[in-house]
Amino acid sequence: MMRSSRMAGQRLKQLGPRSFSTAARIEPATELLTRSASLFQKTTTGVPVRTSVAWIRIPALGLRNQSTLALNKEQEGKDVKTSSAGSGPEEKAIASYWGISPPKITKEDGTEWKWSCFRPWDTYKANVSIDLKKHHLPTTFLDKVAYWTVKSLRIPTDLFFQTRWGCRAMMLETVAAVPGMVGGMLLHFKSLRRFEPSGGWIKALLDEAENERMHLMTFMEVSQPRWYERALVIAVQGVFFNAYFLGYLISPKFAHRVVGYLEEEAIHSYTEFLKELDKGNIKNVPAPAIAIDYWQMPPNSTLRDVVMIIRADEAHHRDVNHFASDIHYQGLELKESPAPIGYH
Ligand SMILES: [Fe+2]
Ligand SMILES: [Fe+2]
Repeated sequence: MMRSSRMAGQRLKQLGPRSFSTAARIEPATELLTRSASLFQKTTTGVPVRTSVAWIRIPALGLRNQSTLALNKEQEGKDVKTSSAGSGPEEKAIASYWGISPPKITKEDGTEWKWSCFRPWDTYKANVSIDLKKHHLPTTFLDKVAYWTVKSLRIPTDLFFQTRWGCRAMMLETVAAVPGMVGGMLLHFKSLRRFEPSGGWIKALLDEAENERMHLMTFMEVSQPRWYERALVIAVQGVFFNAYFLGYLISPKFAHRVVGYLEEEAIHSYTEFLKELDKGNIKNVPAPAIAIDYWQMPPNSTLRDVVMIIRADEAHHRDVNHFASDIHYQGLELKESPAPIGYH
């Protein structure tokens, strides 16, 4: 008995704690198909009823997704279908012991909402009439450093990607999603340290990061990175995250100005992308489904429409970051000026 429990403990260490529900007995998990551990759950009348926790082997999902609570006799051993995003017919959903069940959401036309990474209330119609030519003239020393830093970064970028605008856009989105996350995170910690609100800037910057990540998810649908591009992204992220983190700690005024200029460059890149689409050098394929739902686009939209919208997003990020830098230039903190939440 002692020996078997010691072996089970060793096995548990090998597999790691996340493989186990707290309601499950400590047993080797690899051979478990529908092995159950019992527990009691109180009903609303206070009478304990017997329910069971089952571990189901689903190769496609991996061990950490395998805890299932069969809520009643009928459900025991059956799989429950949900509307989680990306779930193919072979994927099994899970009724949670913790009472968490994915909500079933339908679109206005009655079809099922298939994205779990964003919901209908996170979607919006982009304002594509935004002024794309707006530019912050660098006059102070710091602004000039920010401007020329971004301009000099364009040289290796142009050399590497040349006219591969699709690939360029996808790769640059992996970088563009970093500053909002770093800024939002640092403001979050500042808010905790100082016991003060952020004026909405944490949300505004985290929303920007999420919006940039959605640009990436959209491009992933039309282009796949090669192995050396993935390696480059890892290296660049390692450098850029740390550089921006330090830069933001030292001077948020400078950091936001750099991002403002990066966004101006992004507008330029997407304008070139559109030119290539118009020339026919890039095929104007139908818009990815994720883009149609995220930007509330008509169903017959194309890649060109998507690029127009993403370019408008970048113009909004440009405004937000130059605005943030200007607030600092006026000797104020961001929290002293309400954040442009929902500015698309
Ligand atoms: Fe972007
Ligand atoms: Fe952007």
